[in-house]
Amino acid sequence: MREIAVFGGSSHPELTAEICAHLQVPQRPVLLKRFANDCLEVQLQSNCRERDVYVIQSLVRPVQENLVELLLMADAARGASAARVSAVIPHYAYARSDKKDAPRISIGGRLVADLLVTAGVDRVLTLNLHSPQVHGFFSVPVDHLHALRELAAHFRQRDLSNTVVVSPDLGYAKSAAAFARRLGLPVAAGAKERISDTEVRITAIIGDVAGRDVIVLDDEISRGTTVFELLDRLREQGARSVAVACTHGLFADNALDKLAAADDVTEIVCTNSAPLAAEHSKLTILSVAPALAEAISRIHNGESVSSLFDH
Ligand code: R5P
Repeated sequence: MREIAVFGGSSHPELTAEICAHLQVPQRPVLLKRFANDCLEVQLQSNCRERDVYVIQSLVRPVQENLVELLLMADAARGASAARVSAVIPHYAYARSDKKDAPRISIGGRLVADLLVTAGVDRVLTLNLHSPQVHGFFSVPVDHLHALRELAAHFRQRDLSNTVVVSPDLGYAKSAAAFARRLGLPVAAGAKERISDTEVRITAIIGDVAGRDVIVLDDEISRGTTVFELLDRLREQGARSVAVACTHGLFADNALDKLAAADDVTEIVCTNSAPLAAEHSKLTILSVAPALAEAISRIHNGESVSSLFDH
């Protein structure tokens, strides 16, 4: 069996360390240099020759810096004769750029997938892509995990007798339904239209939420525009309380504090796919390190990943 070698970029060192601890392998050092002309250089400081190499980098702020670092790590591993290079990308930020919904716009999700392959990435392990079709942007194998198992385990500890799961939009309704099934709950969904990065409109909620305890489930919370709009509709329709859950807690523009300040929001739950400096009494962060480590171990050993993380 080839030796495994795990390297982490600078986007989320805590998660890399946690994954390595679960795998019981050392984290290999990476030297990152920035030259006077602002260019980056990466040196992987451990042997890669004929190794099964994993480079872990979440594409979070500063996304462009972290992306280039990931590309350089993959290039360095390939150049150092790695047997296989797998990019572990807990949050693939460019997945939101997945369609041409305005004239002359770029489709970053596809371009970044191509860049990763060009840099030397042989396979990708990622978590909850914004839309499932982004998986198809990659010309190399992708193991696409979700965090529904972790989120469901968290909510199973609650009294769910009066609860309904609500997806903010129809696009995520399928995942919300899968999540609701795990908990034996009904599901509802918002009719959402995104006007711009800072404006969304939810005109209706399809399903019954009056007097119910709601779990809002989304793939990510960025500025919180979506969830705030949904909260307005839920209040109008007489929801009793709201817990907010997502995989990627990005919480831009102080979204966490704003959300936690809402009296009817009882709790906010996300995973550690993105690093979170802020803490809040209403916030619970679930670790995806065990799931990612298990997937890495299975990829390394040539075992099924899908059987573990069935959608
Ligand atoms: C959009 O379709 C996604 O599912 C999320 O609802 C969105 O990315 C969240 O962004 P924000 O919090 O800025 O509304």
